[in-house]
Parts: sequence; structure tokens; C-alpha cells
Amino acid sequence: MKRFLYRKLLRPLLFSMDPEKVHDVFVSFGETLGRFGPGRFIIRIVYGNPIKKGWIEVDGINYRSPVGLAAGFDYNGRLTAILPSISFGSVEVGSVTARPCGGNDPPRLRRMVKSKSLIVYKGLKNEGVDVIINRLKSRKRIPGFVIGVSIAKTNDELSAGLEEGIEDYCYSLRRLVEEDVGDFYTINISCPNVHGGEDFAESARLQSLFEAIDKVPYEKPLYVKMPINLPEFEYLKLLAVLDRFRVNGLVIGNLNKNYEDAPLPEELPDRYRGGLSGSLCRERSTDLIRLSREKWGGRFTIIGCGGVLSVKDAEEKLKAGADLIQMITGMIFEGPHLMQDITKAIYKNNHHQITASDSK
Ligand SMILES: Cc1cc2nc3c(=O)[nH]c(=O)nc-3n(C[C@H](O)[C@H](O)[C@H](O)COP(=O)(O)O)c2cc1C
Repeated sequence: MKRFLYRKLLRPLLFSMDPEKVHDVFVSFGETLGRFGPGRFIIRIVYGNPIKKGWIEVDGINYRSPVGLAAGFDYNGRLTAILPSISFGSVEVGSVTARPCGGNDPPRLRRMVKSKSLIVYKGLKNEGVDVIINRLKSRKRIPGFVIGVSIAKTNDELSAGLEEGIEDYCYSLRRLVEEDVGDFYTINISCPNVHGGEDFAESARLQSLFEAIDKVPYEKPLYVKMPINLPEFEYLKLLAVLDRFRVNGLVIGNLNKNYEDAPLPEELPDRYRGGLSGSLCRERSTDLIRLSREKWGGRFTIIGCGGVLSVKDAEEKLKAGADLIQMITGMIFEGPHLMQDITKAIYKNNHHQITASDSK
């Protein structure tokens, strides 16, 4: 019923509107609902996680669901109260940057409905790390819900140079550590929209970045959001660099920048910029999860992200070696029941059946 209503009624309505407007309305609506116990309760009845206790431990953190909301949807940290009610176990707020970013010029988002993909050209729109820290500190925390913060480099001229770019990342991480905000951090080195390109998805510059990050006295788990378009040997060179530092794991991965992967090129608009999400990242990200596990065994925690649009896609990522899953596009195309479906299915596979005591 939930699936039917979303597919036949809500999705056609939402997809008839501008994607960024729909996103803004949803964030405002979700933020308001999350403020009130009855709002959270009603949503939880329909979409909630039946397993009440943390059952997955990753890097010392307990998760009630392996599914997290990937960076880029709740970029200002406004949804942390409502997300657990739709069966998310975690969120990556951000990517946040040292200074506020207005984002790229619109249009910044476009749907490719047949390809189940979005073209994303956001340009790291966010209110800046200090505003977001204050917001996260002032909000009620829902017990058991894990909040990570993704850090990127401010998308402006001031941070385009190597030293300035490194300081930009370090400033945000230092502020989060000082204010004790975030259960984990992710360093986003793979945002396709950043001024000056993907500066740090190159081994020498990555080494310089992590030499500086290492001096920040962080103690919580730290992950790195990986690009998915590098040649294999260059990708592996990045992992060899990360191995030298206090990096717990990898989020694999970011958007796909190869437009030739689109099987329906007629859906691609002329002269559009940005990365592709959803189905068009699935294979590349899953292949890299598998490769990273094969080459590095258990050295890195792996958070699998890209093209999870069904229970099967999530299981495929876990089978390839992921410890946790993240998504955005699956929720948009399939509906808010998907996180509950995945949580239940994975729990069932691990625990055979869901018993009454699980929901206590
Ligand atoms: C609208 C949008 C904005 C995004 N912004 C960010 C971002 O700020 N930082 C980041 O690390 N990834 C960002 N991403 C990439 C996602 O976190 C994720 O890696 C990608 O969408 C693949 O997952 P999906 O197929 O489940 O959407 C963004 C994705 C979307 C759709």
C-alpha cells in the first residue's frame, strides 16, 4: 500500500515540480515534524524501524539500521530528529565547509526518470560549519541515531590554493572537535563541483592534506569519501596514502562523472554540468567496494553508497564488502519505505526472524 501510494500518487506529483523546490519543501516539512513528538510518532508508525536496539557495531558505534542518509540531502543539519522515524540509522550532515557557500548557479538538480538518476550540480551549498554546529548542538538528539558530519572545502576562490584548501578542511574538523559535534567525520575529497576541481583526489596532495588533518586532535572515527571515476591504479594509490594515517574507513563513493555510463543519452540535457547519482553509480561503486576489500582486507571500514534503489542493491553492496549503506536517490525514486524494507531484510538475514523482544 505504502509503495503503491508513493509510486502512483505522490511521486508523479512531486516529479512534476522543480527538484530543488521539492527538496526545500521536504526539508522544511521534515524539520517541523521532527520538532514534535506526535509528528515523529505518526511517521514512525508507518515508516519506523521495528528493531529498537543497536545491532550493528562499526568502529565502536552502535547502529539500529545499516542504512544512512548520504551527504548532500541534509546539508544544513535540519533533519536529525525526523530521520530515525523513517528507519535511517544515521545521517551524514553536509558536506559542510569552513565558510558558507551559496552553491553553483541554478539549475543545480535535474531528474533523469528512466535512468533513475539525478544530475547534481549543487556546488556545496551550505550555511557553513559554525552555523551548522550551533544548530546541531541546539537540537534534541534522538537516542540511538548516529550523526556524522561530512567536511568539504569551501567552494570559492579563497580556498582554491593548496594551503588554503587544506586549512579550510582543518578549520571545520577543528571546530567540530572543539564543540564535540558529530559521532563520526567524513572528509569529502571527491566533490565534483568544487572550485579548482577535485584537488585532493591525487596522492601527493592527499598526503599533504592528511599530514595536516593528522595534527587535529580528533578521536572519533574518520572516513574519506572516495571518487569513483579514477583509473584503478590511481584509486589504489589513494588508499595506500590513507593507510598511513588515522583513517578508519571509506565511503565508496561519490557521484559518477562519466556521462558515457548513461544508457539513455537522450535523457541527458545538453551542456549540463555535475555528477550523476542513483543507478548510474551503482556498478562503479560496488566494484570499488569489492576491489578495496580484496586489496586491503579489513584495514578500512567501508560504507557503500551509490545506486541503492532496492533491498537487492543493498545486499549486493554488503556482499561486496560494505559494513554499512548510505543512499539518497533510492529514497527519492522508490519512496520513504525503502529504508524500512532494507533494515528489516538485512536484520532478518542476520537474525533469522524479528521477535517481540527486538522492538523493546
Ligand atoms: C542532491 C545531492 C547532493 C549531494 N551533495 C553531496 C555533498 O555535499 N557531499 C558529498 O560527499 N556527496 C554529495 N552527494 C553524493 C551523495 O552523497 C552520494 O554519494 C551519491 O548521490 C550516490 O548515492 P545515491 O545513488 O544513493 O544518491 C550529493 C548527492 C545528491 C543527490
